[in-house]
Amino acid sequence: MENSISIRNITKAFGEKKVLDNISLKIGKGEIFGLLGPSGAGKTTLIKILTGQLKAENGTSIINGVDSQKLTGKDYSRFGIMMDNFGVYDRLSCFDNLKIFARVYDIGNDRINKALEAVGLSEAKKTAASNLSKGMKSRLRLARVFMIDPEILFLDEPTSGLDPATADEIQKMILAEKDKGKTIFLTTHTMREAEKLCNNIALLNEGKIVEYGSPKEICRRYNHQKKLKIHLTDGTEKEIPHDENSAEIISELIKSGRAETIHTTEPDLEMVFMELTGKELTA
Ligand SMILES: Nc1ncnc2c1ncn2[C@@H]1O[C@H](COP(=O)(O)OP(=O)(O)OP(=O)(O)O)[C@@H](O)[C@H]1O
Ligand SMILES: [Mg+2]
Repeated sequence: MENSISIRNITKAFGEKKVLDNISLKIGKGEIFGLLGPSGAGKTTLIKILTGQLKAENGTSIINGVDSQKLTGKDYSRFGIMMDNFGVYDRLSCFDNLKIFARVYDIGNDRINKALEAVGLSEAKKTAASNLSKGMKSRLRLARVFMIDPEILFLDEPTSGLDPATADEIQKMILAEKDKGKTIFLTTHTMREAEKLCNNIALLNEGKIVEYGSPKEICRRYNHQKKLKIHLTDGTEKEIPHDENSAEIISELIKSGRAETIHTTEPDLEMVFMELTGKELTA
C-alpha cells in the first residue's frame, strides 16, 4: 500500500526530558490512523513535528512525499491541522474566522459556506465565536480543515471534552472524509473512538510505541485467557475455556435451550494498555 506518512526514528527531547524516543511508523494512504496514549505521552509533540511546527532532534518524517521539516506554503494546502493551539478568534463570526484562513489558501466564499454546512454551522454563520458552545467551536475548527479539502487531516483529540452525541457526529464527519479517500492521523484518549474509527493504532507510552496494529488485532494478541462467556437464559453467566471441549459444552447448553448469547472474552484496548503500561488510557 502507498504510504501517506512515513516516520523514521523520530526523537525529541525538551531539555533533559526525552519526549519521543525513536518513533517509526507508516501510515497508508486512505487510512485512519490513531495515536493513543495518556496525557503527556508525546502525541501532540509528534503531530507538531509531522506538520513542521517543531523540529525533531533526529529522524525523518515524510508527509505526502515531502520532508516535514522542509514544508513550504503550497504543501500546507495539502494537509489540514485541527488542534487546540490553532485558536478560534472569539470576536469574529464563524464565517469571518474561516475567511481569514481562506485568504491564505485562496479559497472562495462558496467553499467556506460548504465547509460550514458540512459541520452543521450554516445557521451560526454570523454568530461570534465567543457565543459558540464547546462543541460548536470544535465544529468550527473542523470546518477550517474541511475548507482546505486536504489530502491528509491531522486531528489532535478532535472529540475531547465533547458530549457523546456531538462526539458521535464529529466521528461520522471523520469517517465521511475517509470515504472520500483522505488519510487521517488522529490522537485520542478514548479507546472506543479508536475502535470505532481507526484502521490502525499505535499505543504511545513515555515516548515509545508499545503496540501497533488494528484495534482488533491488538486485542486478539493479548487474549491470553482464551475463554468463552455464555449468558444463560436464567440470567447467570458461565465462563468456559476456549479449547477442544468447548463445542460439546456449548452444544449441550444450546440443545437444552439454556444458552442465550456466547462471546469470546477478548480484552479491550483499555485492558491491553493497562497490561502494557500499568496506566489507564483515559485521562
Ligand atoms: N514546548 C515544550 N517545552 C517543554 N516541554 C514540553 C513542550 N511541549 C511539550 N512538552 C512536554 O512533553 C511531554 C509530551 O507532551 P505532549 O503535549 O506531546 O503530550 P500529549 O500526549 O499530547 O498529552 P495530552 O494527552 O495531555 O494532550 C509532556 O511532558 C510535556 O510537558
Ligand atoms: Mg496533546
